[in-house]
Amino acid sequence: MPNLQPDQVYQLLRNLTSPVVAITCQRDGKRNGMISDSAVRASIAPTVPRLSVYIHKFNFSHDLIFETGRFVLHLLRDDQFELIHRLGFVSGRTRDKLGGIPHRPGTLGAPVLDDCYAHFECRVVNVMDTGSSTCFLGDVAAVGHGAAERPKGDVMTAAYFRANMPPEWRSEYETLLRAAQAYAAERSHDIQPVIWRSLQQP
Ligand SMILES: Cc1cc2nc3c(=O)[nH]c(=O)nc-3n(C[C@H](O)[C@H](O)[C@H](O)COP(=O)(O)O)c2cc1C
Repeated sequence: MPNLQPDQVYQLLRNLTSPVVAITCQRDGKRNGMISDSAVRASIAPTVPRLSVYIHKFNFSHDLIFETGRFVLHLLRDDQFELIHRLGFVSGRTRDKLGGIPHRPGTLGAPVLDDCYAHFECRVVNVMDTGSSTCFLGDVAAVGHGAAERPKGDVMTAAYFRANMPPEWRSEYETLLRAAQAYAAERSHDIQPVIWRSLQQP
């Protein structure tokens, strides 16, 4: 990569991060939630609503979503810092992160959070391996606005979160980010062909 240092390239790529979203999933009665800033609209056809999101393989949510083929993606309001801290700074492998966070079962079985800007219940229709993560392509099966009648407030963006998170969280955030970056650097070249199970020939 000529001219630019890797950190400068990373800062430029940060312009491509998505709003901060909460992703929930459930397998065999075990519910979980995590945070992501890598979700994008993946269809321009209003009749075929789709989105995609990259999830690292070390996250517990990755396995739950890969095994069930279901997840719920929630856009968040820009005052939902506490939820991001609860779901995005610690893994659900050893604790029930959704305990105490009001939610209800969605139509696909994964939990829908009551408090959010909007939610999308998704069925996985394809995946792409990146080595360190999986990109899940989801068909949107149901949509809602949390418990509100319509979306309220502004959506939490990644840049707004980074600029305004409580200062006492910052060093933990940066430590977690560096660990995830080290994992990604080590695994990113080991890309495997994956055929999503609903696409496999009988
Ligand atoms: C602002 C923010 C953005 C994040 N974006 C992603 C992401 O795009 N993909 C990912 O795999 N993890 C992302 N994470 C990290 C996961 O949310 C975090 O590792 C979480 O603890 C995973 O929980 P789990 O192991 O219970 O699934 C992000 C965290 C934060 C705080």
